[in-house]
Amino acid sequence: MFNEERRFEQPIRWAMVGGGRGSQIGYIHRAAAARDNLFQLVAGAFDINPERCIDFGKNLGVDPSRCYSDYKVMFEEEAKREDGIEAVSIATPNKFHYEMCKAALEAGLHVICEKPLCFTVEEAEELKAIAESKNRVIGVTYGYTGYQMVHQARKMIENGDLGEIRIINMQFAHGWHSTEVEANDPGTKWRVSPEVSGPTYVLGDIGTHALYLAEVMVPDLEIKELMCTRQSFIESRTPLEDNAFVLMHFEGGAVGNLWASAVNAGAIHEQKIRVVGSKASIEWWDEHPNQLVYEVQGEPKRLLDRGHGYLYKDDPAVAADRIGCGHAEGLFESWANLYHRFALAMNATSKGETLDHLWFPGIKAGIDGVRFLEKCVESADNGAKWVDYK
Ligand code: NAI
Repeated sequence: MFNEERRFEQPIRWAMVGGGRGSQIGYIHRAAAARDNLFQLVAGAFDINPERCIDFGKNLGVDPSRCYSDYKVMFEEEAKREDGIEAVSIATPNKFHYEMCKAALEAGLHVICEKPLCFTVEEAEELKAIAESKNRVIGVTYGYTGYQMVHQARKMIENGDLGEIRIINMQFAHGWHSTEVEANDPGTKWRVSPEVSGPTYVLGDIGTHALYLAEVMVPDLEIKELMCTRQSFIESRTPLEDNAFVLMHFEGGAVGNLWASAVNAGAIHEQKIRVVGSKASIEWWDEHPNQLVYEVQGEPKRLLDRGHGYLYKDDPAVAADRIGCGHAEGLFESWANLYHRFALAMNATSKGETLDHLWFPGIKAGIDGVRFLEKCVESADNGAKWVDYK
């Protein structure tokens, strides 16, 4: 369904801010955007260093005259061209997201932005309002949620296969920053610096990924109140946390917990979600994304596998199989599935069509993540008290 279908006349003329040479996430944005030929990279302010920006842009096949030293100049200059950019992806450290998103929307561009979308709910709501007034799309790259089995989980829950949802156990707890690696790694250094990273480290860097997985699987779930404790085992990271626990009460009686950590020594990723219902549970782990564990009380454990006929084929996201059963799909396919949808959403919005039928991580996902972080900080910094979520 997804592969190389020409979904509209011309690819969307697209640029990036950030994501330059050696960045952690730039390559996967470009690989995902290129996958279905729905975006064409024509410009960029890829790097904070202008020479590196041009050199790297040429490497990517971008005309050097469209490699800009400053994103504001890019938006101005591109607006003067008949073939100027229509959309931009923002893959810079967190502190720039808000100002860059705002400028892009005001320049009439569709935006794909990294998480966390910004630092406060107020900023996020402002971005939403500008996007609405300009009739533009904001996509947020919660990149794990394009996996087929995540959507199988969503469909199973919607269909009542688990019964009534009772417990959601979320975690993203790796061990890569168990020592002070930031001393020699600029990509970690900014993550533990509040002025660049924002009010949180692991909660915003990885915790919101796990939270959004839950949101995708159980979309009706609304947090009623939460309690958070956060700490830094590497002293120099204070006031930001390298470990956090969050307890949640959901509207309707379900409960949940989330563990975000960068000091889970020995662990590679450990991003897992377990949804427990009154009849059965499911568990998904991003290190084995093609499988979903399905456990019905009193029956043998089942391992559901991507691409099989027994999955819910009536759901387009579950049917989004690119390479057939038996071949492993991975993070590139998950991201490409998101970029595919971002393109469809942008095209539909530009034509004034509705997006009701189309799932993708949009502005609501962005706002929800920022609200979660705000509430976690409020709770943790007040002695781990329970805080109302509204
Ligand atoms: P990084 O530090 O590896 O790379 C940042 C890039 O942005 C560099 O190329 C740098 O030169 C460029 N840059 C910085 N300031 C700039 C400016 N003012 N104008 C233009 N370019 C600028 O950072 P990384 O790890 O790639 O993270 C970038 C963003 O992506 C962060 O917000 C992070 O949270 C997010 N991220 C998301 C992931 C996901 O799974 N969705 C995974 C990894 C990162």
